[in-house]
Amino acid sequence: MSGPPPTFPTPGVLGSLPHFRRDPVGLLMSGFESCGDVVRFRLLNRSLYLVAHPRDARRVLLDQASTYDKGTRGFRVLRVFLRNGLLTSEGPQWLRQRRIIQPAFHRERIAGFADTMAAAAGHLVDSWLGASSDTVNVSADMMRLTLRIVGETLLSTDVSQEADRVGQALHTMLRGANEAIGRVVPVPAWWPTPAHRRQRAAMRTLDDVMLDIISTRRAASETSGAMGARKDHDLLSMLMAARDEETGEGMSDAQLRDEAMTIFLAGHETTAVALGWTWHLLGAHPVVRQRLEQVVDDALGGRPPTMSDLPRLGYVEQVVKESMRLYPPAWVVSRRPKIDDVVGGFRIPAGAIVLTSPYVTHRHPDFWPDPTQFDPGRFDPANADDRPAFAYFPFGGGPRQCIGNTFAMMELVLVVATIAQRCRLDATAAEEIGQDPAITLRPAAPITMRVRRRAVVPV
Ligand code: HEM
Repeated sequence: MSGPPPTFPTPGVLGSLPHFRRDPVGLLMSGFESCGDVVRFRLLNRSLYLVAHPRDARRVLLDQASTYDKGTRGFRVLRVFLRNGLLTSEGPQWLRQRRIIQPAFHRERIAGFADTMAAAAGHLVDSWLGASSDTVNVSADMMRLTLRIVGETLLSTDVSQEADRVGQALHTMLRGANEAIGRVVPVPAWWPTPAHRRQRAAMRTLDDVMLDIISTRRAASETSGAMGARKDHDLLSMLMAARDEETGEGMSDAQLRDEAMTIFLAGHETTAVALGWTWHLLGAHPVVRQRLEQVVDDALGGRPPTMSDLPRLGYVEQVVKESMRLYPPAWVVSRRPKIDDVVGGFRIPAGAIVLTSPYVTHRHPDFWPDPTQFDPGRFDPANADDRPAFAYFPFGGGPRQCIGNTFAMMELVLVVATIAQRCRLDATAAEEIGQDPAITLRPAAPITMRVRRRAVVPV
């Protein structure tokens, strides 16, 4: 018979709740460091279980995936915003949608987005180098950049402008979801607080815009059989054309709207956060930055990167992967066991909250020597083979693994290469930047950096 895992010791009625409120990442790390691979935290009258060993993360997310669901509070909050979209749906509904949508994210289908990604990053560099101030808010600019990229690849529209109502409404929604997740005492979504009213208005705006775009496209394809060369190839048109292989059915307008909203939200803040931390780390590690610049210059000879350059930008990929090892944007991936389970030799009861945490596992010293050190050499293909799969899982794993992982990796490498080719970003202050984990692992304060034009690279 297996017993419960060790409980992280905390005196008082509240248990680890105040610590969890103040510094959830620090709490998880302390629990792992003092209690080991499976640890229980008591939060008031609830239990939270952290599983840190790659073998156990694999069990929860892959091997026993069908006996776990997404019934945790974080997903309940997200479900209010994303409804039946891929991230928050479950069971047969999710499986059907995943089958229909998966082909749209295959490498060959998204290859056409590479130029859009590089061009958007190029515009950002133009605006930086043309501005009167050399100090930039990297966090905000990366957010705007990834919003622009997801808007152009999904809808063929730039929604990143300040005045754009889609961009604004998305930010209101995202802020609402982040705040709701951070609250100790949940406020029901129907409760008419001013914040909830603003969120509902934002959702109505997004619903209207999305449904409008969908119906315009349906009408255009019926009358002309085509929607214009560019729009024909965006993600929305792929989703509209997609059919379930077994039944031949496509998606309803409401389902398309939920999927589009999910892609907007899931594909935008995560990537922006990864880019922000990457610039921060490069600013603090000049030797790595120098090598990255050299690789970019050698591979591109001064022209913007394209899809076919990716194999020569392997070191850029290593840097991005190492950045997401230390600062995985999705810092926890939560699940709820539907039946009692035994994980790492310990019993976890049905209905508990189980956290797998890329943040903690990516710092597990058995798999990552000197874990806090930033060293992109860890992802040199020659070194990668001796680690178990779930020692590194920034995109989750198992059936619910991120559908946008290839899209995201392509975007990250192309954006970093485009920016590093033309300018260099240096920290404006020496202090370490803290973390503010909500849905994603955001920096506690905006990352501001000084931008300098690099010497023109000979072609
Ligand atoms: C660095 C960027 C990204 C990170 C770190 C990330 C991380 C993740 C993780 C950890 C999951 C699994 C959640 C779970 O199992 O509960 C996930 C799911 C998902 N992601 Fe991403 N993601 C990123 C970028 C993207 C992009 C660019 C898109 C779309 C364009 C996207 C769309 C989705 C969707 C739709 C799901 C739900 C998949 C399903 O349940 O079938 N993500 N992501």
